[in-house]
Formats: sequence, structure tokens, C-alpha cells
Amino acid sequence: MSSDNNNKLSFATRSVHAGYDSADNEGSLNPPIYMTSTFAFDSVEQGAGRFSGEQQGHFYSRISNPTQEILETRLANLEEGEAALATASGMGAITATLWTLVGPGDQILVDETLYGCTFSFMEHGLKKFGVDICYADFTNHAEVQSKLTDKTKVVYFETPVNPNMRVIDIAAISALAKDYSGDIKVIVDNTYCTPALQRPITMGADLVVHSATKYLGGHGDLIAGAVVGDAETIQQIRLFGLKDMTGAVIAPMTVFLILRGIKTLQLRMERHYQNAQAIAEMLEQHPAVDQVFFPGLKNDPWHTVAAKQMDGFGGMIALELKGGHEAAVRTLNKLKLAKLAVSLGDAETLIQHPASMTHSVYTAEERAEHGISEGLVRISAGLEAVEDIIADLEQALAD
Ligand SMILES: Cc1ncc(COP(=O)(O)O)c(C=O)c1O
Repeated sequence: MSSDNNNKLSFATRSVHAGYDSADNEGSLNPPIYMTSTFAFDSVEQGAGRFSGEQQGHFYSRISNPTQEILETRLANLEEGEAALATASGMGAITATLWTLVGPGDQILVDETLYGCTFSFMEHGLKKFGVDICYADFTNHAEVQSKLTDKTKVVYFETPVNPNMRVIDIAAISALAKDYSGDIKVIVDNTYCTPALQRPITMGADLVVHSATKYLGGHGDLIAGAVVGDAETIQQIRLFGLKDMTGAVIAPMTVFLILRGIKTLQLRMERHYQNAQAIAEMLEQHPAVDQVFFPGLKNDPWHTVAAKQMDGFGGMIALELKGGHEAAVRTLNKLKLAKLAVSLGDAETLIQHPASMTHSVYTAEERAEHGISEGLVRISAGLEAVEDIIADLEQALAD
């Protein structure tokens, strides 16, 4: 649904208010949860008008729902896009979007490293249906330029990249794609940053996808996703990718929880990135650690581009231990406070081993080819007191 015209208010204010006015709902400070599958029409003509799109209004909750509309308006506002579509999962958003935008013979140009299930959808899903998936190192702009072809319909990447924390220059990649053809859609997975830290549409991207399961929800109690962009494309994704191809419909109760989470998004993101910065600085000095990948570190190769496009360096860290894979397993098994779990963006610090968990859908050969090392450890810095997180990591890293 289209975004509110209140962009002059600050981000924190819009996170609390955009898309909802209690005066429209009996003064209820929080939005009503419309638990309904269908919507009754006044007349056959009205029903027909809603189905054809000639009349505004809801008709079936696989397409839209008033509670969902509030979240969509808020997300569009925060990402500075025209419209948004909320979905049942991040994968629901990604698959609904790509099913809508590509067909047999088309090419998707994609960064070499992706979240495991996104890689699997492209490599084992779209490829089977005749879509060409072409990989490039998106930090190498000449390589990206050389791989754009007349068949390229979508340019797709995450930044920072899950799990290896490379940072991709959104403005530069968007400009390369647009210079080649105005018809190419540039899609950025903004899950790691959220609009509190990074707004890709303002840098030239066409669409932003999210796993709202992560920081947007923020409390590890739901699975959801979203796509934000221009109103026409979002409507196409809603009426085909969501309605006909995936049916990945978000539940109204989940919408309510995300709206509640977003009210504290900026506060939480600030604490996440402050904690991550302190943890990364400790790890950088630790004798058991070989390398830390966090763009907030001054000597990180992606520090400059991250400082240009992010308002804070995010809450995610990756690292390699000196003892490689074996040391990683030993260390993770010793954690006491931090939880050994996939997902990210929760109040709890979560630590996982991508090669055996989130990125295990890649074969070992594919991981080597796509820049995911076997010993890599991923940390999602939580909201606990940072000294407690650091003490836990130090005891786990000790011999
Ligand atoms: C960067 C990124 N994108 C997309 C997804 C998929 O989201 P979901 O688990 O909500 O389907 C994830 C999940 O971990 C992710 O980390």
C-alpha cells in the first residue's frame, strides 16, 4: 500500500506513527488485528470492481488485509519507497519478487555470496525453470559491468553480505545497471541493516527485500518478510508472485508483532551496532582470532564504502579463528550466555557456524567458490550488556 506523506518527520517518529492514526480506530493506540479471510461486498458490482482493481478495497486476505496495510505503509515510508508488500517470510518476499520479474531465457546477475536459501532458490529453483543465474564479485565493478547482458533483468545482492560481511557499493552497482539498461531491476536484501541504518532506494536501487524475522520484528518470535519499491511493481508482485505463485501470506497477528517491534527499531539498532563495534574491537586484539570481518573496524577493507552508505555499521560480525574449523567448533560448544542458534537480529546474542548451518545448502566446493570459508563463525550481537557478551566470548576463546 502506498506510503504516508509524512517523510519530513524524523525516522524514529515515523517508526512509531507512519501509516496509523488512532483517531480512525476508536482511539485505539495500537492497531486492530483484522482476523478475517474475506471481506463482504455491498453489491456484485462492488465485488467485481475490487477484483478488477477498478475499485479500492480489500476482498480476500491472500491479497491484502487492513492490518497488513498499516505495516506496508510504515515499511514503504521508512525505506522511502512508494509501496510495500508484507509476506509470510523473507524467502516468501524474495521468491514472490523473482517469480514476478523473471522468466525462461532471462538472466539474474547476482553477487557471488548469498544467504543459503536465496542461493538454493536461484541455483536449484529458478535455474530449473530456464532462468540463467550469473555470479560476479560485486565488490569488483569491472567484473559486474562485463557480465551485464541484454538478457539481464535483475541485479541482486545483499550488503553487508551474509555471512562474510563484504560490503557492496549500492550507488555504484545501481548506476552500472541503469547505465546498461533502464529496464534492469536492482534488488537489495536489506535484512542486515534495516532502513534505520541503510536505505538502498535512496541510492538508486529499485526494490528492497527483507527478512522481517530479523531486526524488524526484533524479538525472535516470528517469521516474516517484505518487499518495498515502486507502486506498480509491488502491485505486480502482490497480484502474481504472492497471490498465484507462492501464497506466502503474512498472518495479521504477525503483522501486529512487527509493528510493535518497529516502534523500537532505531533504539535497538543503535545498541546492536554499539555492542557489535565493542565485540569486534575485542576480537581483533584476541590471540586466538585470525581475522575479524566487521565494517566498523578502521582497517576493514569495506570500512570506507560502509561509512558512505550506512548510518552505523550494523550488529553482525564474522570471524576466523586461528585453529580453523576445529577451533570454531570447540569455541562455540563452550558458549554460556550467547546462544548457539541461526537467525539474527534478536535481543539475545546468537552465534552460528555458516558452513554447517545457514550455508550448508551450498556444497563444500560451492562454498569455496562463493567465498564462504569452512571455519567462518557468524555473530549477531544482541542487546545484553556488552561486558557480559565479551566475558562469555573470552571464556569460550580461552584454551
Ligand atoms: C540476508 C537474509 N535474507 C533472507 C533470509 C530469509 O528470511 P526468512 O528466514 O525470514 O525466510 C535470511 C534468513 O536468514 C537472511 O539472513
